[in-house]
Amino acid sequence: MPRVLVAGSAGFIGTHLTGYLLDLGWEVVGVDNFSTGKPENVERYRQRPNFTFYEMDITQEVPEGDYDYIVNLASPASPKKYLSLPVDTMLVNSIGVKNLLDLAKETGATFLLASTSEVYGDPLVHPQPEDYWGNVNPVGPRSVYDEGKRFAEAITMAYYRYDRVPVRIARIFNTYGPFMDVADGRIIPNFAYQALTGQPLTIYGDGSQTRSFCYVSDMVEGLFRLLTYEGLDGEVVNLGNPDERTVLDVARLVVKIYGVPESFTFLPLPQDDPKRRKPDITKAKRLLKWEPKVPFEKGLRRTLEWYKEVVNVG
Ligand SMILES: NC(=O)c1ccc[n+]([C@@H]2O[C@H](COP(=O)([O-])OP(=O)(O)OC[C@H]3O[C@@H](n4cnc5c(N)ncnc54)[C@H](O)[C@@H]3O)[C@@H](O)[C@H]2O)c1
Repeated sequence: MPRVLVAGSAGFIGTHLTGYLLDLGWEVVGVDNFSTGKPENVERYRQRPNFTFYEMDITQEVPEGDYDYIVNLASPASPKKYLSLPVDTMLVNSIGVKNLLDLAKETGATFLLASTSEVYGDPLVHPQPEDYWGNVNPVGPRSVYDEGKRFAEAITMAYYRYDRVPVRIARIFNTYGPFMDVADGRIIPNFAYQALTGQPLTIYGDGSQTRSFCYVSDMVEGLFRLLTYEGLDGEVVNLGNPDERTVLDVARLVVKIYGVPESFTFLPLPQDDPKRRKPDITKAKRLLKWEPKVPFEKGLRRTLEWYKEVVNVG
């Protein structure tokens, strides 16, 4: 069975991807420093004989060994988290990525970078195809993440071009589902927490800005295909769900599913907040034969059920 290193395995997507790979019988080595991930996400797999875990900061050291695949998910991902860890975010996306690329080079592993739709910034092209170069403010508050990921992509392509490391880059668009930290600060956990604790739901701007949300099981399937399909070295592929929703519509749906009274607080839009975000997934359909399958209402219901248990009310 293949041996894979998953960096960021204690995070939201890492927890799901680890479970998926363990279920396939793969030997999974997880590494995480718990900066935004949680020890309990690792504990759930401790008893699995094909799982090993190292608590390490990948900017300092990486678990040496032979790997067929290396997946790098390690990075704070939500604006709340990366704005509170600005320098760490830049370091994990530069030195951390370099350390993993060196390991891929040594061991001949295929390397998958989890990049982000944030490399498109506040996009002037809609929806965003992979060959759109983006509209990023290099000195704005969000640049620690956006430019960090742009650097991560650039160094990944440098190892591909100059050292022939087999690499693939996933540009992940908003993903949601169980195990996303309720305190993560992103829209769905925020709405869930506020609705469950009887608070008004906070909407930035007038709520007409759009997002498109991909359920995490669809994302994991896309990442797995990008990691393992033949002939994809050097490819950059958008993964996300093109089903576009306004923030206000999402808030209304959360209220409806939980059956709570509709109550919203409107606050000013944060600086550089993108107004529209929607992936063009033509390339993923062509190369991976992949597209999301879980409808938003269904995924949202499952996710809200999970938050109900975690937040432990009613
Ligand atoms: N969830 C999304 O909607 C989304 C969207 C776009 C991109 N992404 C990307 O996908 C990846 C995973 O996102 P997520 O939502 O699971 O985030 P997450 O914060 O839940 O997981 C990231 C994990 O990386 C770990 N980590 C951070 N710095 C580290 C370091 N120096 N050494 C070791 N581990 C470290 C954290 O502790 C955490 O467990 C990230 O790279 C993120 O940028 C996610």
